[in-house]
Amino acid sequence: MSGRVVGKVVVVTGAAQGQGAAEARLLAAEGATVVGIDVRPEPAEDLPGVGYRQLDVTDAHGWDTLAAELGRVDGLVANAGITWRARLADVTPADFLHVTEVDVVGVLLGIQALVPRMRAGSSIVVVGSVAALTGHYPVAYTAAKWALRGLAKTACLELGPRGIRVNTVHPGYIETPMTASGASAFRTANVAETPLGRTGTADEVAPLVAFLLSDEASFITGAEIPVDGGLTAHGGVKSISDAVRPAAPPERT
Ligand code: NAI
Repeated sequence: MSGRVVGKVVVVTGAAQGQGAAEARLLAAEGATVVGIDVRPEPAEDLPGVGYRQLDVTDAHGWDTLAAELGRVDGLVANAGITWRARLADVTPADFLHVTEVDVVGVLLGIQALVPRMRAGSSIVVVGSVAALTGHYPVAYTAAKWALRGLAKTACLELGPRGIRVNTVHPGYIETPMTASGASAFRTANVAETPLGRTGTADEVAPLVAFLLSDEASFITGAEIPVDGGLTAHGGVKSISDAVRPAAPPERT
């Protein structure tokens, strides 16, 4: 381990499982003081070295209490999120608002509560999605993640003069409890659209998050970085390439 976040106090949301758990573990292993928060009363995975506490990211009062207890904060990983796989014709306004409340307002509240505790050199990492870069079928989730991009861009603008950086990572299909709850056809279709030809793991996202939190990324802000095996790189035309690819490469003479 590089120890690149030694001495930093970092809050990771959605730390009970999946990507948040992997990020919290890695940051703790690299020397950060990590506070992992989640709506679940107990973590679903082992979190060695991580201080865990229950907090719903939509609870503004809970955020204020946490901020007051922490004092100084050097980093926020706004990772907590929920999906809702209803399509356009079926989604209800209540479901739409609920996803927005967790995936967007929850991030806003975290930033508002912790930024007053941050000094120059601090870093915020927002976890978006490839759904924020495309027209993805789960409409509430897609709209919320696009809104999150706007929030991150504005936060970059507002907080830059204070020396606080804000960057976004956009995971592709990552093997976590969230994706395990989806249809197998969803997984198969994602692999088919991914140039690397496989899904990703939470441990393949966490190192980028650690880098963006570290001083190594000191001039990087406002960036959006996919971690998606190339899913969003081909603009949706991989199926065309695959369709016309010969079964065997042409022989060279
Ligand atoms: P997950 O469902 O496995 O874990 C999400 C965690 O967030 C859970 O522990 C859950 O309890 C927590 N959470 C949910 N609502 C909360 C709330 N109101 N307050 C506090 N914690 C709450 O999901 P996963 O896959 O680890 O996703 C993490 C982030 O990555 C999410 O923002 C998700 O949208 C995003 N993402 C995931 C992808 C994937 O393929 N797994 C792809 C693209 C984005």
